[in-house]
Amino acid sequence: MLNGGKLEMQFDFFDIPGSIMHFAINDPSAFILGRLKEHHSYTYFHSLRVAHYSLELAKMMGLYRLEQQVLVRSALLHDVGKLFVAREILDKKERLNEEELRILRLHPQFGFEIVQEMVNPGLVDLDVLLYHHENLDGTGYPFGLTGKFLSLPVRIVRLADSFDAMTTVRAYNQPKSLEQAMNELVRWSGEHFDLEVVKIFEQYIYYRSM
Ligand SMILES: [Fe+2]
Repeated sequence: MLNGGKLEMQFDFFDIPGSIMHFAINDPSAFILGRLKEHHSYTYFHSLRVAHYSLELAKMMGLYRLEQQVLVRSALLHDVGKLFVAREILDKKERLNEEELRILRLHPQFGFEIVQEMVNPGLVDLDVLLYHHENLDGTGYPFGLTGKFLSLPVRIVRLADSFDAMTTVRAYNQPKSLEQAMNELVRWSGEHFDLEVVKIFEQYIYYRSM
């Protein structure tokens, strides 16, 4: 909501629309998501919110309905590789040591492998799983790819993922305000985030906040 000219919004799982919940529960990939919910419920609800933001962006950017469906499913599954990362690492309050960080940063590849094996080809955009921590300027992981390798769906989920991580409470940090999170997206646009995707997301947040 707009409060004295300032953007304010509270995020929790109640904000996830029924359509996304319905998709997550009834989709052919639901059995994997169910496992994720048992393993780490924060990641499950984070994935629902990421799917929601990704869908809103996809609609505003004119993706076709089928592309939207694949994007939603891929966003729901983007962090599913965390099934192979111990809860102690995912919830650790202190800074991760080198080995823990190495394991955490394997989750895009773990997710790629699980989904490639268990979900019919064509239903998921595997690039989203594998590249959702890559940055346009090549500073991301696991491969340090640059923008020319990163498709629009990857760029959408990259932003949706970061925005949700910044605006929700996690074991190791306090959430940023909506204004701080938007400033961060703008600050890193062109380097971490796609300029156009950031612009469209600003419009989405503005209209949702009215
Ligand atoms: Fe991730």
